[in-house]
Order: sequence, then C-alpha cells, then structure tokens
Amino acid sequence: MPLTTSTILICAGGACISSGEISVKEALQREIKKYGLDEVVRIVETGCMGACSLGPLMVIYPEGVFYQKLTPQAAEKIVQEHLLKGRIVQEYLYKMPTGEVVPEAMDKLPFFARQVKIATRNVGYIDPANIEEYIARDGYFALTKVLTELAPEQVIEEIKRSGLRGRGGAGFPTGLKWELTRKARGDRKYVVCNADEGDPGAFMDRSVLEGDPHTVLEAMAIAGYAIGAQQGYIYVRAEYPLAIERLQIAIAQAREYGFLGKNILGTNFNFDIEIRIGAGAFVCGEETALIASIEGKRGQPKVKPPYPAQSGVWGCPTVINNVETFACVPPIIIKGAEWFRSIGTPSSPGTKVFALAGKITNTGLVEVPMGITLRELLYEIGGGSSTGKKIKAVQTGGPSGGCIPSEYFDTPVDYESLQKLGAIMGSGGMIVMDEDDCMVDVAKFFLEFTVDESCGKCTPCREGTRQMLKILERITSGEGTEEDIEQLETLGNIIKDTSLCGLGQTAPNPVLSTLRYYHHEYEAHVKEKRCPALRCKALIRYVIDASKCVGCTACARVCPVNAISGELRKVHSIDNSVCIRCGSCIEVCRFGAISKVSP
Ligand SMILES: Cc1cc2nc3c(=O)[nH]c(=O)nc-3n(C[C@H](O)[C@H](O)[C@H](O)COP(=O)(O)O)c2cc1C
Ligand code: SF4
Ligand code: SF4
Ligand code: FES
Repeated sequence: MPLTTSTILICAGGACISSGEISVKEALQREIKKYGLDEVVRIVETGCMGACSLGPLMVIYPEGVFYQKLTPQAAEKIVQEHLLKGRIVQEYLYKMPTGEVVPEAMDKLPFFARQVKIATRNVGYIDPANIEEYIARDGYFALTKVLTELAPEQVIEEIKRSGLRGRGGAGFPTGLKWELTRKARGDRKYVVCNADEGDPGAFMDRSVLEGDPHTVLEAMAIAGYAIGAQQGYIYVRAEYPLAIERLQIAIAQAREYGFLGKNILGTNFNFDIEIRIGAGAFVCGEETALIASIEGKRGQPKVKPPYPAQSGVWGCPTVINNVETFACVPPIIIKGAEWFRSIGTPSSPGTKVFALAGKITNTGLVEVPMGITLRELLYEIGGGSSTGKKIKAVQTGGPSGGCIPSEYFDTPVDYESLQKLGAIMGSGGMIVMDEDDCMVDVAKFFLEFTVDESCGKCTPCREGTRQMLKILERITSGEGTEEDIEQLETLGNIIKDTSLCGLGQTAPNPVLSTLRYYHHEYEAHVKEKRCPALRCKALIRYVIDASKCVGCTACARVCPVNAISGELRKVHSIDNSVCIRCGSCIEVCRFGAISKVSP
C-alpha cells in the first residue's frame, strides 16, 4: 500500500458546512482522483478549527499550510498547484487586515498563535468519527491509567490539586464536587454531562461534542470510577443534531473497543453512557431542571439544597459537569495537576474556551489561558473591531452576564476579576459591541430572552423580569421617566435576591451592569428622548442631505414602504411619518447622502 504523502484536514464544523464545506470536499475528491492521487492523499473531515469567519477552510500536512475562504474552484487549483507541483497557492492564504499575507503555517497566524488548547486539543485535528484517531492522540490513556494505577480517591485528589473549576458558569471546584458525591450515601450514583448550552451565540460545547466526542466519554468514565457510578447521561439539546450523531457513533465505538460497558479494559469496572435529548429550553441547563428532565419530568428547577451531589438523578448522588469541564479531565490525569496549575492564574487554573461574536474581525472559537487580558483576547486574537469603529464594550456570560466597557479591557479574564466588574465568566459567550450599539437596547435584548425562557415557577423571576422589560420598552420608545431608571435598579436587585434558581438570580445582570457603566445612555433616553447610538427606532429619524443627494433614485427603489419621494436627478426626501427605520436606504446610497439623526 502506498504511503500517504499529504493529509488534508478540512473543517466540517457547523459554520464551515453552512458556508460550503461539502462542495469543497467533493471538488477535492474529484480532482485528487482525476490526477491519480487518491492513494497518497488523505482527506480527513474534522470538527471546528475555530476560525469560523474564514471558512470553509483546510490545512494541508505535513507542511501545515492553512487555506481559507475556499470554493470548489479553489480546491481544484490547490490540488493542481500544491499537491501536484508543490507550489503554495498564495491567494487562499490568510491575509492580515493590512493585506499582508501571513506565513503559511497555521500556528503562525495571530488567531492561533496565542491560543493554548486543552479542552479543544483534538478539535480540528482528528476525524471525530474515528476512535483510532482519538487513541493515536493519547485517547483513553487517562482512563487506562486511572483503572490500572489509581484508587478512586487518588483520582479525586488529582482533580482537586489541579484546581479545575466548572466551565458551565459558576466555577465550582470539580474535584470537591466529585469528592462530595463519592462520600454521599447511596447504592447507585450517576454521572451527567451538561451539554444543554443555551446561551445565545455560544457554541463551545457543541464544538467539543462534534469535534472530539470521545474526550467527553472518557472523562465521564473517569468520573464514574472516581465517584462509584456505573451509568452516565449526556443531556444535549435537539438543536445539535450533528453533535448527537457524532456522540452516538462514538458511544458505539467505545463499547466495541471495551472502553464502555462491562469489565472495562479487563477490570471489574462497569460504566455505560446514554444520550438524553432536551427540547432546547434555556432553564433545562440549570442542573436541577436538567435532572428533572432526564427523569422525564417537566424541566423546572428545585430549591437547593439538596444539591445533586446528595440527591440528583432518581434521588441518587450525581456528579453533573459541563462538557468543557469534562474535556479538561483526561489531560490532567495524563500530564498531572502541576502541569494544569502552571497554566492560567492561581485561583483560575487552566484555560477557557470562548465563542467570539459580534463586531469583531475574527469571530469563532478560541481557547486561551486564564489571566489573559480582555484587550489581548479581543485585539491580538480577535483582530479588533470588524466595523472600523471603536469597540465600546464586551458582553460576557450571555443572558446571565454583564457588559464590560473598554476602560476595563486590561482586566485579566478569570472568575473573580470578571465578577468584580459585575459580569461573569459564564460558559464562554463573548459578544463584542461598537459605538453603534445602544446599551439600553442590548440590556433589553437579553431581558427579552430571559422573560421568554423563565419557567414561571417563582414570582420574582416570572413577573419581575416582565416588569423590567416593560420599563425598558418604555425607555427605548422615548416614554421612560427618571423614576423608571430607579425602578429598574430596585427591581433588578429584588429579583436577584429572591428568585429560586440561577436564571432569575442572574437575569437582571445585563440591566444592572449597563446601568452601572452606561447610566448616561439611560439618562439620554429618558431626559433628552435621545438614543446616543442612534439605534432605538422610536428615537431616530432618517434624513437626506440635499448637498450630497444626486437623485439617483436607489433609495426610493429599495424603500419597502415608499417613504422616499423625488424625481430622477433631483434631491430626494424622506417622509418620517411613513418610514419604518429599516436602514435599507443608507446601505444603498453610494453618495453617503442619507443619515440617522435624533429627532
Ligand atoms: C439558567 C441556567 C442555565 C444553565 N445552563 C447551563 C448549560 O447550558 N451548560 C452548563 O454546563 N451549565 C449550565 N448551567 C449551570 C449548571 O446549573 C451547573 O452549574 C453546571 O452544569 C455544573 O457543571 P460545571 O461545574 O462543570 O460547570 C446553567 C445554570 C442556569 C442557572
Ligand atoms: S428563577 Fe425563573 S426560571 Fe428559576 S425557578 Fe424561578 S421562575 Fe423558574
Ligand atoms: S429607513 Fe427604510 S423605511 Fe425608512 S426611508 Fe429608508 S428605506 Fe424607507
Ligand atoms: S466551523 Fe469551521 S472553523 Fe468553525
């Protein structure tokens, strides 16, 4: 059999698939076959490589050349030039915003160079549907080590010493959680993986499940051994069909290879995993609601204590951890607690995966050491603003989190520092905003989400968030008063203090953090009836500058409500009593004649 001379890793993550990965792969396959290279060139479809905004993308090894923004024609050219003649095709290499072509190797690109990959160490590097690729990268070695060399207490001790904290949001120490569950009384115990991932814009957990499902299975088996459980459940939302499919394949393979099931690796340890599919309610990510949902009940939170460590699935002691938390476990077992602690900060060891979204050049997935500053993360890795306008704030922690203004971008990213600023680490969603974003509107967006997602069990969250939303609607439509601003703060603090579960306890955070840092924007809305970012539709008008308008009619043709009048080559005008503030006219005017103004 001829030796493989080149391996093409092509990203088959969700974003790349939707930007045309399949047709690129088919073009590669056709062209490779046409030139008789199919015996020496291997194509591997991987999980998300992180740089989703550059997709479809691929890396050719052994050179490590990174090609981006591919099309079927690009694939053909790369086969003809790179694979046949050894010539790198410059036009598909990564280019800096300055236009400079970056050296070919993937790890030289600014987006990747500062990343440290632990949880996502295999994502984008292996075929997730092939257990042997996982094994080739030390897969199931940690489980083997645990079962053959360590007592359950030693495993827990190692995780405790590593300082690993839950990546699902709250940052609870993982080793301690395992120890409490091990010590809890009960004949049956369970391990649950929380793969609900409900934060809008977050896709860290989906990427791990799609790109490296075995790492979660291996870590859950390790947790099962440590706490004395024989059964695990992965709770994953129905909106993640690819993750579910890859998990199903991985579970079947792990059983076949003897890593799941009875007498694992010839020991007397039995452990198996089942998938439970959730319907996509945000509250079902809360651990007690998730457990109720696994049991087939309505997904509503319960009062804690008792915590799942004492009474979880079917009333039995249960460890519940997030996908990313589990993904850190096998490397800790293999490389040791000291190694893990050497990365990150003393109180937040290790790394964190973030989903960068919004007005940032490099959107996608990044894994960085804790302690990196927001500035380094947003500018060195994220490439700065994508709009040419100044970045104004970053929202961390999704609907439970808060907005951090640019003055604080030198803050290190760790659990405590973000909390001090009124934000949270959360599960890793990071939405970047520029000067065109209205912070009152942003707070309203997140509150609309939590109002929709409140399960309705307790009054402060069910009714209180609704009242807050009504106030925000008044403010953004120009009908707010100064008392409304005070009310928002009072209500927010009451809801935080009196709600039953974390959803209600954190729902006011986006409002409270924007009140803290952007009070002047709230005041402008209520006192001057003005939206400083010119975003709130009720507080803006569209106008045409007569000195710039050439009467090309482009705006009038695109206006969906015929609000623009004017004859060819004559100055046009907008009837703001008809205009629905859709913004289409600004986009089409090539002369910059249309602008938004405060009434
Ligand atoms: C409303 C709400 C939604 C949550 N959603 C998730 C989620 O999608 N994924 C997750 O891992 N944790 C989520 N959590 C946190 C879980 O309750 C729990 O703390 C976490 O799964 C524990 O795992 P960890 O210690 O590994 O972080 C949510 C909490 C709340 C209050
Ligand atoms: S805080 Fe909200 S989501 Fe949580 S139990 Fe109460 S109503 Fe339900
Ligand atoms: S903003 Fe939209 S509705 Fe208003 S004038 Fe322009 S195109 Fe018409
Ligand atoms: S899906 Fe391809 S890089 Fe993220």
